[in-house]
Amino acid sequence: MSSSQKKGQENGWDFWKRIGSPKYVSAPMIGASTLACRKLFRKYSVDLCYSPMIIASLFLEDSDYREKILTTDSDDRPLFIQFCGDNAQIMAQAAKQVQHLCDSVDINFGCPQAFAEKCHYGAYLQDEWDLMREIVSTMNRELDVCVSAKFRMQATIDKTVGMAQMLQESGAQVITMHEQITVPFIANGGIISLEQADHILDLTKANAVMVGEGLRRNPALFAGIERNPYKLCNELIDISKKEPQNVYYPQPFEFIIEQVHRILLNNMEGSSYPIQSYDSKKRKRNKIREETSTNIFHKHWDLREQLIGVKTLTSLEQILAEAEKREKSNEDPPPKPGRHSVVQEDNDTIISGTSIFDEGSDS
Ligand SMILES: Cc1cc2nc3c(=O)[nH]c(=O)nc-3n(C[C@H](O)[C@H](O)[C@H](O)COP(=O)(O)O)c2cc1C
Repeated sequence: MSSSQKKGQENGWDFWKRIGSPKYVSAPMIGASTLACRKLFRKYSVDLCYSPMIIASLFLEDSDYREKILTTDSDDRPLFIQFCGDNAQIMAQAAKQVQHLCDSVDINFGCPQAFAEKCHYGAYLQDEWDLMREIVSTMNRELDVCVSAKFRMQATIDKTVGMAQMLQESGAQVITMHEQITVPFIANGGIISLEQADHILDLTKANAVMVGEGLRRNPALFAGIERNPYKLCNELIDISKKEPQNVYYPQPFEFIIEQVHRILLNNMEGSSYPIQSYDSKKRKRNKIREETSTNIFHKHWDLREQLIGVKTLTSLEQILAEAEKREKSNEDPPPKPGRHSVVQEDNDTIISGTSIFDEGSDS
């Protein structure tokens, strides 16, 4: 038993075995590793999923945030639920509320976003080892489930290994990073194919590999199946339509749309790491502009406008069916109307017919 292990607590390796010795892992992703996406990932060979990161203090204070940020059901296992924060007690208190829904509570020590700097969490704690130690050991002491930690590679190998050892000694049972240590560890970063994933496993001798952006573009990546965007989008919509069993929190529609946009992308460019999903029409338009620049929605302005205004899963299915049909038959788009025409969508939404690629069309 290691010095940080609680009496009666299983060690990291026994824990890893108990959850099925996962090999392929889907990354924690705000706005992207939501329940429907996790179900799709699992269907295509993902063995272990992470929730999106939850800000511990907000989770305790804000019921709106609490209801939106975490969705799960009884089939959604093994699951690591990830928290961030800089107050060990608050983090433990928040994690206690969800520990019965997961196999491990993960701590995010890797988030590089400006927001994380402002709020003092994620990668911005990486030079404060006493605080990191306190967070891991408090969580380990207070929680009934395993505690894991995810962090970035440091400036030197020595510092990276040192940090991994410190986290392990503080009680982390599983670690996501790039070097070998003596608890199960997951390698992550830049993997976009099954071949690469297996190569990294071989090279690093990691217990598992984690993929983020690659799974957003191709949820079937770990199954070694060639990307079929329309099929995957329709499967995601089907999963989202079914009311999950024993659902604990509702699932926001905008996250489904976000993931559909990702799957529709044709390449790995334009990788993003949003802090929240679409929060304004302008942001949504910019995002779709970026995301559709290489696929059928670029040329077919009418479908793109419909995609921007879509409000229901059924309408989304219809748009995708039309896009697939036009793509297969190599159809031309309809003529573009003038700047002040309107397009009707979902019977209650009027959208300007002006192209989102036109200057000043954002509202
Ligand atoms: C959209 C998006 C959201 C992310 N959100 C989180 C998060 O909530 N917590 C976290 O630890 N990492 C987050 N990440 C980082 C990923 O978990 C992963 O470490 C990173 O993308 C590198 O892996 P990849 O190259 O396979 O994408 C996010 C990445 C993306 C693309």
